[in-house]
Formats: sequence, C-alpha cells, structure tokens
Amino acid sequence: MSKPKVYVTREIPERGLKIIKERFDVEVWPGYAPPSKEVMMKKIRDVDALASLLSDEIDAEVFDAASKLKIVAQLAVGFDNIDVKEATRRGIYVTNTPEVLTETTADFAWALLLSVARRVVEADKYVRTGRWRVGWHPGMLTGRDVYCATIGIVGAGRIGSAVARRARGFNMEILYCDIVPRVELEQELGAKRVDLDVLLRKSDFVTLHVPLINQTYHMMNEEKLRLMKKTAYLINNSRGAVIDEKALYCALKEGWIAGAGLDVFELEPTVTDNPLLKLDNIVVAPHISSSSYETRSRMAKIVADNLVAFFEKRVPPNLVNLEVLKRQKQS
Ligand code: GLV
Repeated sequence: MSKPKVYVTREIPERGLKIIKERFDVEVWPGYAPPSKEVMMKKIRDVDALASLLSDEIDAEVFDAASKLKIVAQLAVGFDNIDVKEATRRGIYVTNTPEVLTETTADFAWALLLSVARRVVEADKYVRTGRWRVGWHPGMLTGRDVYCATIGIVGAGRIGSAVARRARGFNMEILYCDIVPRVELEQELGAKRVDLDVLLRKSDFVTLHVPLINQTYHMMNEEKLRLMKKTAYLINNSRGAVIDEKALYCALKEGWIAGAGLDVFELEPTVTDNPLLKLDNIVVAPHISSSSYETRSRMAKIVADNLVAFFEKRVPPNLVNLEVLKRQKQS
C-alpha cells in the first residue's frame, strides 16, 4: 500500500522530521524563508497532509488547490494563519503543538520584561560603543524595579499562568484578566482577577498572552494604552496584531508608558524602517519565544505524533477543530 503524501513547509527539527520521513512519502521545502503561496499550492496538489508553520497562510484558496488534503499539522501553538472554519467545513483536521512550549515561552516573556525594565540591551550597546567613560555614576542607565511590583497578565491560560508562577519568585502582586476565572492561580499565587481597564491602570508590567482572534485584534489601542501608568511597561509575545503598533509608537514616543518588550509584530518580519525600532525604550526580538533547542525539538515530535495518529485512524492528540469529528460522524 502506498504511503500517505506529506508536504512539510520547512526543515523542522530532526526529532519530528525523522518520524515523518520513516512513515510517509515526504517532500520538505528546503528554503529558510517560506515557500510562496503559489509554490505551496503547486506542491500540495496531491498531498494527504501538510505540516505547516505559523508563517504559512493557509486559507480557502490553499484548500482548493489540495483536493486530497486531510490534515494540517502545524508546528506552533497559535493557528491564526489557518482558516480553521474553512478547514472544518471541508472535513480537514487541524492540529497544533500546545503545552510543550509553555515554559519556554513564559521564560522569554520574562527575558523581555527584565531586559526592558533594567535596560539590558541599551546597557550592552553602551559598553560596546565606547560610551562607558565613567566607571560608576548613580544616574547611569537607571531602570525600574521588578521585584515587589504589580504584574498584570492579560490572558491567564497555559502561558499566562506560567508567567504568573515566575512572578511569585519576584514577590510581585499578580493581577490577571481572562474570560474565565483561574481558581488555581488565585489559590496558589494569590492572583486577583480584575477587568482589563483595572489591570491596565494598576499594573507596572502588563504582559499579553491571548490568541489573535477578532475580539483581541488591536485590543491594546490608543484608549487602552492611555490607561496604563506612565511608568509601566508592555510585554507582548503572543501575536503582534493584538497591539495597534501605531498607537504603541505614540505611547512610547510621547511617554504615555515607559517601555515595551516585543517578540511579535503586526507584520513579520517587521520592516527595518518600522518607527518603533528607532526608539530606545523598547526591546525587540524576531518571534523566538519558543525557540529553545529542547522545545523546538519537542514541537517537531508533536507534529509527527499528530500525523501518525491521524493516519492510524486515531484522533490526533492536539486536534484544534474537534467539530470535524462530529461532521464525520454525520456523514
Ligand atoms: C508561536 O508563536 C506559536 O504560536 O507557537
């Protein structure tokens, strides 16, 4: 019997790719950059499965081009690049890679938070560019204390909760907002659930951990940014479009807030003339929050596990669109 055909849109870590290559008839896009949509549409014409990344736009047009496609196994927890509704309508399974990246991503939110509050990137440039001409000065590169400050976690799901647990080590007051109460956070850490406006008014550090959906698009707009303290910092390693970048630029430039740490942008890669990059009170990274060797390897393994489960006629462990199962039963 011939093996199912799988198209993998990038060289994913060996731990997952090896399994995929053993079990399926595989083609891997060799480029560092994603294949163009046109190329991808050609490549997937007769595949049974697609292993995708969050930088691949997977919409109805792509599904039209792949009449045999049965499953999209994404290497990421977020899947806003996939038209899941359309996939479900067509009976196509969509899977993601949750949980294994939670702690690594939470670590990186903290890396951004500490870097921007204590001006680590500015300090590094200061030393390297020869501006450190006085051994010690009481006003040199002064930052803000993190310990005992108030952290506001917007979206206290898996990653938000992991960020909150780290805040305890800094003896912080923890506020969160979420559509559902997180009882363990309240019991374990004394976290308080408040509404978004209260969180923004009270927090010294606001960190975003929500998925990008219609309700969160530009959630941090001018009105919300103006609610934050002038001494507060905004951290985002969820999705860029949760923040209105133009409003954020004004907030940072005009001092409505003190600084920001961003791992994600509205457009990725962001353009080098993005005005945000001209500012000193911002620390940026190129969407690498889950990028540790261990986690990326685990993510690739999960992609493989989801594909293997599907083709063994089991429910993939990380099925995003459970409705697809109901649809199958009905047909
Ligand atoms: C990264 O942003 C992910 O969604 O895994």
